[in-house]
Amino acid sequence: MSKAVVFGSCVVDMMARGPHLPTPGETVKGSYFHMGPGGKGFNQCVAAHRAGCDVTMVGKLGDDELSSVHLGLMRRLGMDTSHMLTAADAPTGCALVAVDENTGQNQILIATGANMTFTQEDVEACRPLLEQSDYVMLQLEVNQEANEQVARMAEECGCKVILNTAPWSPVSDEMLGPTWMVTPNEVEAEGATGIAVTDLESACKAADAFHAKGVEAVVITLGSRGVFVSAAGKQQIVPAWHVDAVDTTGAGDSFNGALLCALTEGKPVEEAVRFANALAAVKVTHLGSAEAMPTREEVDAFLAANA
Ligand code: ATP
Ligand code: RIB
Repeated sequence: MSKAVVFGSCVVDMMARGPHLPTPGETVKGSYFHMGPGGKGFNQCVAAHRAGCDVTMVGKLGDDELSSVHLGLMRRLGMDTSHMLTAADAPTGCALVAVDENTGQNQILIATGANMTFTQEDVEACRPLLEQSDYVMLQLEVNQEANEQVARMAEECGCKVILNTAPWSPVSDEMLGPTWMVTPNEVEAEGATGIAVTDLESACKAADAFHAKGVEAVVITLGSRGVFVSAAGKQQIVPAWHVDAVDTTGAGDSFNGALLCALTEGKPVEEAVRFANALAAVKVTHLGSAEAMPTREEVDAFLAANA
């Protein structure tokens, strides 16, 4: 099994559930509150770790009480904290997560804080880690120039870049050039290519637009409809599993972390996508973000029960 790095965001999720999501100006009485570690990068790293991946998190927290939320879970799970950085003058990132208890859908507002303060020196310090790793996973929840620097450096080190284009913001050609795989959802795929992804044909066109920029593998997540994958000249939709979703927060992150894990195990892209699809299906039956990521045993049991 090879090694992986997740370079990305750490955000404390303040999650409340209620009968529906608030509309602008509305206050909704909720039923449940939980504070826990989240952030797309952190969720992906925990998902990969719990699935059995040898993965290191590079993240940045504030010099404040909330930083213990992430560090505490990492220590409990036996994760390496030596590449967790502290920002001198920005707080730990924080998100207000509202979850509709009927549909499992969410609405998220993030104060990004320390996640936007990665310096050139912070990134340069990751070089030895990238030299020892085969894959690095990035998202768009940290400052863009740091991501671009990591992507360039990873290419120099022979470490494959997987870019999860979430939360959506425009992606430069400098970023896509060194990227080996992209994993947008439908909205992000349309944002990046201008092509609305509604069916297999439009997904193929969107994938071709990414391929034309030098990206080898394109994986578009389609929520409860599953995943589109375009790799090694083959394009197909892998349907989602039918489960009773209670919380889709971090569904994309669980998928990405699982994909990373399966790739480090040497699985071909299509097989890795099938494993990630199953792990994400189990995740949406759990409430929460990083703490709700399934274990490998759970996913294996799910696959065995549904074979
Ligand atoms: P989020 O931003 O909420 O993390 P996303 O938009 O990045 O999500 P989605 O495309 O919604 O990502 O979901 C990612 C993957 O999770 C899907 O491709 C699928 O494998 C799985 N998934 C999501 N929702 C469901 C569901 N209701 N039932 C089964 N699997 C699901
Ligand atoms: O993808 C879910 C994550 O997005 C949440 O954990 C929240 O922190 C936001 O970053």
